[in-house]
Amino acid sequence: MASVDVPVALLGYGTVGSAVNRLLHESADDIERATGHRLRVVKALVRDPEKERAYQPDPEVLTTDFASIIEDKSIALVAEVMGGIEPTGGYVLDLLRAGKPVVSANKQLVAQKGAELFEAASTGGVQLRFEASVCAAIPVIKVLREALVVTNVHRVLGIVNGTTNFILTEMERGASYDEALAEAQSRGFAEADPTDDVSGADAAAKMAILATVAFGSRVTLADVDYEGIQGLEANDVEAAGDMGMTVRLVGAATLVDGRLDVRVQPALVDRQHPLAAVAGAFNAVMLQGDAIREITLEGPGAGGIETASAVVADMVSIIGTTGTGFLQNDACWRSVERLDPGKLRSPFYVRIEVEDRAGVLAHVALRLATHGVSIARLVQKQDNGSATLHIVTHEAPAGDVEAALEEISELEESKSPPAALPVISDRGVPGLGWA
Ligand code: NAP
Ligand code: HSE
Repeated sequence: MASVDVPVALLGYGTVGSAVNRLLHESADDIERATGHRLRVVKALVRDPEKERAYQPDPEVLTTDFASIIEDKSIALVAEVMGGIEPTGGYVLDLLRAGKPVVSANKQLVAQKGAELFEAASTGGVQLRFEASVCAAIPVIKVLREALVVTNVHRVLGIVNGTTNFILTEMERGASYDEALAEAQSRGFAEADPTDDVSGADAAAKMAILATVAFGSRVTLADVDYEGIQGLEANDVEAAGDMGMTVRLVGAATLVDGRLDVRVQPALVDRQHPLAAVAGAFNAVMLQGDAIREITLEGPGAGGIETASAVVADMVSIIGTTGTGFLQNDACWRSVERLDPGKLRSPFYVRIEVEDRAGVLAHVALRLATHGVSIARLVQKQDNGSATLHIVTHEAPAGDVEAALEEISELEESKSPPAALPVISDRGVPGLGWA
């Protein structure tokens, strides 16, 4: 059978874009064997065509002129690997409305403008795919939309940012925060501005996308409470180790009694929990639901060629499913209300700095007990007349822990505002033991 020539374009030719072109070149025979089509990058939008590229394209490919892409009727689809909200969002909307299918690796764009983008795709009668926007090489969107279509997923728990996971694991091995961040940047894991990585905004956008697809209800970046790794103290990491746990930046999307909660924050993860073993720029997503109980997907969560593999898979899938199939639709079919965050139950790690004298521990324990918060583990460290209490509580509603800590911070023996992080120890699925 004669192969079909498919000219495609890229918006962006940086870490991911150049890797997409490399993969399409180097795997052209494999793609043709599997699909009968040969995808060829004919245009790639950049800011500076003179810049040196990791994989040099043919001389006529790089352009600064978006019109040369949208107006070229031979271009069958476009991969957006440029990043940012504007002008990127405007370009993607124009392409979709003009009837060109789009693949995007841009989690901020999908998480912030998803509704508008899917409406434009529907107007243009084309597909918008976004696998690479979440966890790079891990095909989690495909699993949620296709393999788990009849599964009532009620919890998604994951490590969804490669840069921060890389930083945390390098710091455990003795590297400084700055050294580890610089290494993550040089390896192409970090965003162009790494603030999104370390502040938790990148992971929050990914959790918004995962929650939207898992629960079928629109969740945007604005619906996600998030906190990054900048507020972590070295003594939190040390105390976690002393108590048999490790610190990870964890995203959680949960459906409780028909309401949803989506958040990202550093958490103490029990060393026996599967998430504790996720190291370096790897990501992992645990999907929990009625029939499946639990499925964990783990793999590279960042990197040029890793992300490009998901972009290329989406491009090939569009070619194979154009004009057919439910995957071209928006994943949302209902509107689920948000859970009151104070009602979310978890064990917590609490750090409290107090004066080191008789009766103080009793005062602290009393405030916790008054709010029904029970202590499971306690480590006390002394330092120059003050004592730092590292406490792990039994499971309690977040609002009750917060109320107890507010009272503790008002005690005259209290030396600094207490801090609290969730602890992930139980699998959360009845009947599932460790590993
Ligand atoms: P990058 O290396 O900074 O590349 C961005 C590319 O877009 C560059 O080629 C740049 O042109 C071009 N560009 C940016 N703004 C432009 C504008 N206004 N007009 C024209 N061209 C413009 O970024 P990346 O790491 O490849 O990431 C791209 C996207 O993939 C982002 O949305 C990111 O979140 C996502 N992503 C990245 C990874 C990863 O591991 N890197 C993983 C998953 C998803 P110049 O080259 O001329 O500057
Ligand atoms: N900067 C992102 C990360 C890239 O580190 O996870 C993958 O989306």
